[in-house]
Amino acid sequence: MSMEKSLSEHTKNILGLQLPTDPRWVNLAEIELEEILTDHAYCEQKAATTCISLIQKNSEKSFLVDELSPIVTEEWGHFRQVLAELKKRNLQLGRQRKDVYVNKLIDFQVKGGSPDERFLDQMLIMALIEARSCERFKRLSEGMEDAYMRKFYRKFMESEAGHYTMFINLAEHYIDKKIVRKRWKAWLEYEKELMNSSEVRGDRIH
Ligand SMILES: [Fe+2]
Ligand SMILES: [Fe+2]
Repeated sequence: MSMEKSLSEHTKNILGLQLPTDPRWVNLAEIELEEILTDHAYCEQKAATTCISLIQKNSEKSFLVDELSPIVTEEWGHFRQVLAELKKRNLQLGRQRKDVYVNKLIDFQVKGGSPDERFLDQMLIMALIEARSCERFKRLSEGMEDAYMRKFYRKFMESEAGHYTMFINLAEHYIDKKIVRKRWKAWLEYEKELMNSSEVRGDRIH
């Protein structure tokens, strides 16, 4: 890995995640499809609302506003696709589930710190959630029994791959690349421990 290249270039090829998803997860997820679709729907909804709030909090960063505005539409479109899939199967959206994974990631976010440090963590936590979602969708797109569902998840996998790269890109646009790289490594380490210590359950995307 040459140091001159920006981190976003590297992450185009590799997810960078330190621990692959437990192979048992796909089978569990397929059994609990209603739960997975509901959790997935809310993941998309949260992605859209988080992008809106990032635009509100960073309105002076015009590059960020330009990049995130279309993502809001895209994530909301994803939400609607998952909702349509639930409807088609006569399944209920149901209530939002507790998001243990994201809550544990939030624990690692810098508290206090400088505005730049807080901004960097806001970008990196999003990059990580997108990267892990992308990895999970990849697992589903490769491992599900149902060919239709494999195709369904392949499309989501492709979008999320673009998103996690974009958040790294945004971080590197505003923050020194060396600082971004160092902090991203710390996030990847933390996420590895988190994945290692979490139970494998088929009713959640993460
Ligand atoms: Fe999405
Ligand atoms: Fe996304």
